[in-house]
Amino acid sequence: MDPGLTLEHYRHHLEALYGFYAPLEALLASRLGGLLPELRAEERWKLPLLLKDLRDLGHDSASLACLSRNTALPPISGLPEALGCFYVLEGATLGGQLILRHLQRHFTGIPAGDFVFFRAYGEEVGPMWRAFGEALTRTSAEEASELFDARTIQGAKDTFDAFEHWLRQEAEDSSAYS
Ligand code: HEM
Repeated sequence: MDPGLTLEHYRHHLEALYGFYAPLEALLASRLGGLLPELRAEERWKLPLLLKDLRDLGHDSASLACLSRNTALPPISGLPEALGCFYVLEGATLGGQLILRHLQRHFTGIPAGDFVFFRAYGEEVGPMWRAFGEALTRTSAEEASELFDARTIQGAKDTFDAFEHWLRQEAEDSSAYS
């Protein structure tokens, strides 16, 4: 949201999000392993969106392969932690709508791509968020376990911490650009 945001900053931020989402979504997919089809996980992966934006900003397969990937992933040992982690990734789509409008205004007339990552599900962001919440609430009710709920909440907290750690590192790197 920084008024001084340059195209270079924006691209660098997307590169950092790619380095975070790529390994994390792979881990999430393996932990979910087809469980909870009502989550519609396959419709929610953000990696294809980040790839589209990065290619629009000049990346190709060779340069994408050189991007650093987060190895300090949140500990997702099971389904509850996976749900907590997914909650954070899905929640981020809400702010994405505000960021999208800001970027469209900010980069008016500049070839910055279609901002498909921050656009996420477009008109469907609200319904997708509500559907996610309902699936999470139903699963918690079915499990009827305080431990399950505590592990889900810890999964979300660990994901926020991992995001902050990785993006703080990214911000330090990007200060090299300004
Ligand atoms: C309407 C509600 C929301 C608004 C207006 C909002 C706004 C924002 C803004 C402006 C940023 C960018 C900050 C930056 O670049 O420095 C951001 C990032 C983020 N938000 Fe939110 N947010 C909302 C809801 C949520 C919820 C519910 C969650 C999670 C449960 C969440 C998770 C995140 C995460 C993980 C990031 C960092 C990654 C990213 O940029 O996508 N947000 N949010």
